[in-house]
Amino acid sequence: MVEKSFEPLIAAFCCNWCAYAGADLAGTSRFEYPTNVRIIRVMCTGRVDSTFMLLALRLGADGVLVSGCHPGDCHYLRGNYMMERRLGYVKRIIELLGMEPERLRLEWISAGEGEKFSALIRDLVGTIKKIGPNPLKNGGIEAEYLMRKMDASIEALKSQRLRWVLGISQVGIKIDEARYKAVVDSIMHDEIERYMMILAMKEKGPLTVKEMSQITKLTPTQVMRHIIALRASGMIKEVGEREHQYTYAATV
Ligand code: FES
Repeated sequence: MVEKSFEPLIAAFCCNWCAYAGADLAGTSRFEYPTNVRIIRVMCTGRVDSTFMLLALRLGADGVLVSGCHPGDCHYLRGNYMMERRLGYVKRIIELLGMEPERLRLEWISAGEGEKFSALIRDLVGTIKKIGPNPLKNGGIEAEYLMRKMDASIEALKSQRLRWVLGISQVGIKIDEARYKAVVDSIMHDEIERYMMILAMKEKGPLTVKEMSQITKLTPTQVMRHIIALRASGMIKEVGEREHQYTYAATV
């Protein structure tokens, strides 16, 4: 049950030219809004890397807002359109982590929409209050496992393979959306699982298949499949033996 006293912490990435000025106008016009929000000024929503949104949650935010210029008004032409695409797949990762995608919100606010900004913050705080605190803050084994998965997702989003495939959707190439989503989903799964294994090896030293399976909660077959791919790309190597099983270490 959500505690009555729960006050969500919202990280808000606001575009300098529109939403940030809108927030400023809300303040000078005395449109009240809850103090739960921490504003991070960026030059364009296009500057908000997908890892920033996950990092905000990882660092304890209960919700994340990205707010910028209305479609067609971006000072850098396509930054907000790129952000819209990016937000879609970050929401998908949040879902894969078992968290509520509603923790992430994208809204367009112009410099003259101070009142809209204050209404948005009130609404977002209400939504997050209903959802409850960020599960990473719950403590215990489940939160620890979620944290591992979150860290792996952040690393996966930095990986060349995922960046390349996600980048395709942002440069305006005509693609079959359904097929593209299926491919992205499968690569996302793979990369997150592989980085869970890599981070476990980095943290605990060389590990056997059985040990990796216990830490990551992947089946030994899944671990083996990733080991083959990771070895082929040179990201891990075989370094010894323990209890009649090979041990592997990360090389990246
Ligand atoms: S300049 Fe505001 S969203 Fe790009």
